Amino acid sequence: MFYPAKAITALFLSGHASSASAQTPPAAEQSTGFNSTFALTPDQIVATNLSDAEATSLNNVLRFDRSQLANGGPHEDDFYTLPPLTNSSTGPLEPGTLLKTQAFTDPSTFAIPPNTALSRILYTTRTHNGTVVPATAFILWPFTARNIVTASATGNQHAQQRDKAEEKRSYDDQIKPTGGAGAPVVLWTHGTSGFFASAAPSSHRALWYGDAAPFTLALEGYAVVAPDYAGLGISTTWGEGGGDTQKIPHQYLMSRISARDGLYALRAARAAFAEALDARFVAMGHSQGGGAAWSVAEVLSDEEGKTPEEFADLAPGYRGAVAGSPTTDVFTGWPSLIAPFVALALGSVFPSFQLADWFTPVGAARVKLFRELEGSIGAAQQLFLGDGAAQLLKDGWNETWYVEAYGKLANAGRRPFRGPLLVLQGTEDVYVPYSVTNATVAATCAAHPDSALEFLVVNGTGHVPTLDATRQIWLDWIQDRFEGRPAATEGRGCKRTEMGSFLPMGWYLKVGNAFPQWAGAPEYSYQVPLGL
Ligand SMILES: *[C@@H]1O[C@H](CO)[C@@H](O)[C@H](O)[C@H]1NC(C)=O
Ligand SMILES: *[C@@H]1O[C@H](CO)[C@@H](O)[C@H](O)[C@H]1NC(C)=O
Ligand SMILES: *[C@@H]1O[C@H](CO)[C@@H](O)[C@H](O)[C@H]1NC(C)=O
Ligand SMILES: *[C@@H]1O[C@H](CO)[C@@H](O)[C@H](O)[C@H]1NC(C)=O
Ligand SMILES: *[C@@H]1O[C@H](CO)[C@@H](O)[C@H](O)[C@H]1NC(C)=O
Ligand SMILES: *[C@@H]1O[C@H](CO)[C@@H](O)[C@H](O)[C@H]1NC(C)=O
Ligand SMILES: *[C@@H]1O[C@H](CO)[C@@H](O)[C@H](O)[C@H]1NC(C)=O
Repeated sequence: MFYPAKAITALFLSGHASSASAQTPPAAEQSTGFNSTFALTPDQIVATNLSDAEATSLNNVLRFDRSQLANGGPHEDDFYTLPPLTNSSTGPLEPGTLLKTQAFTDPSTFAIPPNTALSRILYTTRTHNGTVVPATAFILWPFTARNIVTASATGNQHAQQRDKAEEKRSYDDQIKPTGGAGAPVVLWTHGTSGFFASAAPSSHRALWYGDAAPFTLALEGYAVVAPDYAGLGISTTWGEGGGDTQKIPHQYLMSRISARDGLYALRAARAAFAEALDARFVAMGHSQGGGAAWSVAEVLSDEEGKTPEEFADLAPGYRGAVAGSPTTDVFTGWPSLIAPFVALALGSVFPSFQLADWFTPVGAARVKLFRELEGSIGAAQQLFLGDGAAQLLKDGWNETWYVEAYGKLANAGRRPFRGPLLVLQGTEDVYVPYSVTNATVAATCAAHPDSALEFLVVNGTGHVPTLDATRQIWLDWIQDRFEGRPAATEGRGCKRTEMGSFLPMGWYLKVGNAFPQWAGAPEYSYQVPLGL
């Protein structure tokens, strides 16, 4: 960190000793950061055959997860309360309808970078069978919108565009630019955060992916529009005819469904912040969201490469997609983890599905407990990857017809899409294996040889860290799309690039080993470097 000498001198010299000490709050110990005393009941432990050690671990994971939620998370934060269904004469709600706007989301309970700002919206999307359901999304705003200078502009036009951009750089508290168009948009589709209301990135202090993408993008001047995905954030919908409310399934890894969650969020965000958001956007996602970003490119193209009517409003602004470590073959990676994740909502796609089709009684009890606790990925690792894991799934579960049928519906790739598309993949990824992405890219390029697909293989990197390793490349790539430069693949078909590390691989930190700890209370402010 660099602080100008002047500022430091000013800090040290300002005021008398007495006024300086009056500004320093007492420092308190923050030993664990847990803001939760959650504990499993003895009945829950017995029903799921958890060992004492596993139960203790699960308690710790849940306490940690609940402590990462701003304002107590979706069950306590009023933003997530569903407004009543207004009786519209125009018939049932369309997906992409804006239901609620929180223009100013108090950033002080989050751990986002200084001089970024947050808004949240509640809007409608649709599930696999077309049911319109409510969902939530956040928008992370840059301090100043990135100045886009289109490559085709002449010198004069450059100057004019810069002037226009200068004019639009301040926003009042209703988020209206003072003139001109708004910030260029990156539609960010996140990787797996969980499966239930409390897993919404819009309620996570670091918006779940933190520096790996959303913070970076906002600091580069993009407005980051980010769906939570249906079922996360808000998990119950209006009852039919005003009857009982119904659970909203999170249809895990259904790439084209998650892509729609994103595009409908973008439509609603534009309704909320018409002037602050430029019509141009790039989609970017990672893992589950890498599949979703790839599928944004798919749902913006029909078999003939034309724009489907469903997104005629958004398609003109689309500039391309970045799919990091995308999920293109549902049950590969960690099948014993993916099976429960998919099973949670499989009945909403194939109503005949029962947990007993895949799980032993103890396995089914663990899936039910997982749902009851609104467990995270960390909780799932305790429940489904521990010592007893081999006794949770029935032999042959992976040969039931559901597996192949779900894969066909869910997977991104192997179909026409609207490029350009940049696919990022590390060779040491244990969640999305390199061989799988490599095969999907090969099959896609073989079936659609004119595809504008660039495949960047990073030798030696793992799952999320592939985003860190390739940051310069995807930032440049996104900027090029906004500035109108043709992609290397445009009109030329697929391209593969390999990338290695600058220093020997063994010198690098392989996996992130820290998280953004909230230190926003006065008694913790000593933990923030020069936090005034
Ligand atoms: C601690 O948890 C409570 C209850 O969930 C919540 O209302 C509160 O906002 C949380 N406090 C902090 C600092 O996160
Ligand atoms: C909507 O309006 C119709 C016609 O006035 C009425 O029959 C129906 O009960 C209303 N539904 C709700 C949810 O208010
Ligand atoms: C469609 O899916 C929803 C869950 O999203 C479910 O409640 C509903 O019963 C399904 N409808 C049909 C006709 O299958
Ligand atoms: C319960 O867990 C123990 C210890 O892992 C194991 O030996 C036993 O088979 C499990 N019982 C069932 C029904 O899975
Ligand atoms: C199902 O899993 C078993 C055990 O892991 C494996 O041997 C088998 O090949 C798998 N079947 C399919 C269709 O993937
Ligand atoms: C990657 O795909 C290419 C075909 O494009 C194939 O020749 C190669 O063997 C694949 N590598 C791996 C490790 O799967
Ligand atoms: C990665 O680098 C190692 C060491 O240089 C090399 O042996 C290996 O073939 C490379 N793998 C790929 C996929 O390029």
